Amino acid sequence: MFFSKKKRKIDDLDMNNIPKHIAFIMDGNGRWAKKRKMPRTYGHHEGTKTIRTLALEANRLGVKAMTVYAFSTENFKREASEVEYIFRLPKEFFNLYLKELMENNVQIRYIGHLEKSPKETQEIINEAVKKTSINNGLILTFAFIYGGRDEIVETTKIICQKYKNNEISLDDITEDYFERHLMTEDLPPVDLMVRSSGEYRLSNFLPWQLAYAEFVFDDTLWPDFDENELHRVIAIYQGRERRFGGVKK
Ligand code: FPP
Repeated sequence: MFFSKKKRKIDDLDMNNIPKHIAFIMDGNGRWAKKRKMPRTYGHHEGTKTIRTLALEANRLGVKAMTVYAFSTENFKREASEVEYIFRLPKEFFNLYLKELMENNVQIRYIGHLEKSPKETQEIINEAVKKTSINNGLILTFAFIYGGRDEIVETTKIICQKYKNNEISLDDITEDYFERHLMTEDLPPVDLMVRSSGEYRLSNFLPWQLAYAEFVFDDTLWPDFDENELHRVIAIYQGRERRFGGVKK
């Protein structure tokens, strides 16, 4: 099905079929900046504005959870100056937008190895998590120093330890049990995964959680992603038939 890029009104969306959980791979910041003859870091800077825009709009549409891939365990391979810049972004982001996110009832969370980031970054993120924990609107989760395979290994270790301590039996280890021990714990299943910038990869993002998600790979570079793009990808999602392994009715 073809969806034009023209401005899409909210009326075009089926408000009874809004995805509960949308996960974004925020790709294309570097290319966006390069096109403007600017350093890659400028693209990341602009990319943070997109997070704010989409979180507020997703919240308004009634999306329950939005998870963004902010830094992968593999991103440490980048130049140290770029890594350091990304680690400073949470401070910039929360200084600018925490008040507004609070007012809009958004909860902040993170998944990943925050402890591997500088102390100041840890403090800023932990403070945002704490302050917003009383909210009950959209849960905005930052996958930060996150790797999907690592998450599965870490979860396995937690469960093995419980087994070793005789807290559980082998029969207790079900898919549901495993899922509840992942870093995403109580988040609803991901309905829609969007990767910007025309790359067709998962890059170790939420491999367990995306097992039954709908995928949209979009050409838009992340800093150009806005409310209209969000409406467009949700409309694509709504045009899909989800069968979860069943047959067409
Ligand atoms: C991928 O684009 C983007 C990233 C690795 C970093 C994204 C991070 C943010 C947008 C901000 C995070 C903000 C907070 C608050 C934690 P790329 O650099 O790979 O783009 P390219 O493929 O065009 O080079």
